[in-house]
Amino acid sequence: MQTSLQIEGLIKEFMDVRNTTLELFSPLDIEDAVIQSSDFGSPPNWHIAHVTWFFHKILEKYSKSYNNYDDDFNLSYLNSYYQKYGSILKKSDRGRYPRPTVMQTIKYRKEIEKLFVDFIKLRTKDPKDYSDELILDIYTAINHERQHQELMIYDFQYYYNRFLDDSDNYVPRKANVPLVVEQVPKEMIHIDSGIFLLGYNGKEFCYDNELPENKVYLNKYKIDTN
Ligand SMILES: [Fe+2]
Repeated sequence: MQTSLQIEGLIKEFMDVRNTTLELFSPLDIEDAVIQSSDFGSPPNWHIAHVTWFFHKILEKYSKSYNNYDDDFNLSYLNSYYQKYGSILKKSDRGRYPRPTVMQTIKYRKEIEKLFVDFIKLRTKDPKDYSDELILDIYTAINHERQHQELMIYDFQYYYNRFLDDSDNYVPRKANVPLVVEQVPKEMIHIDSGIFLLGYNGKEFCYDNELPENKVYLNKYKIDTN
């Protein structure tokens, strides 16, 4: 059961992650937003539409009323790997079909955000409506969007190192925030060589690049304790 305070926190977390995505996206020109930098990357516009589609799927799971969402574009471009949702667009084709358009994506994001916040608030009236499964689904979607933020940054780094004129390159807005450097004592410790387990094998959220858990041999090394 969720208290109203927890539900407020959930809405804040949801909106924070949504706003961070747009902060990453907003310095882009519209021409750059639909370019797929490589077969393994995704167009920025696709990233921000796809994560929205993911929240949309949660709404549909919990209420049939969201199946009639009145969109004016084809949502099937936004699925590149979830087999249970039917048609899958080949990853390498995500830049070939720039639909939804950027303007449609921005509109779609705003509409789904409003529907999602209303959906969370509506459930506040009866906290019993918050099943463990629903909470898990919401946090999976929030973390899924965080994961795409990380992927967007990889894509930007890959794409924006090719312009001849440096002024055409991407400048993240957050880079202008002054860094607060903590003063911590520097101390190194020695780690002996050996076989170590890397990666994650739990049941909570993790990033793709933490899977699967695997053994690696490392030579002896030194590392900062902080
Ligand atoms: Fe995804």
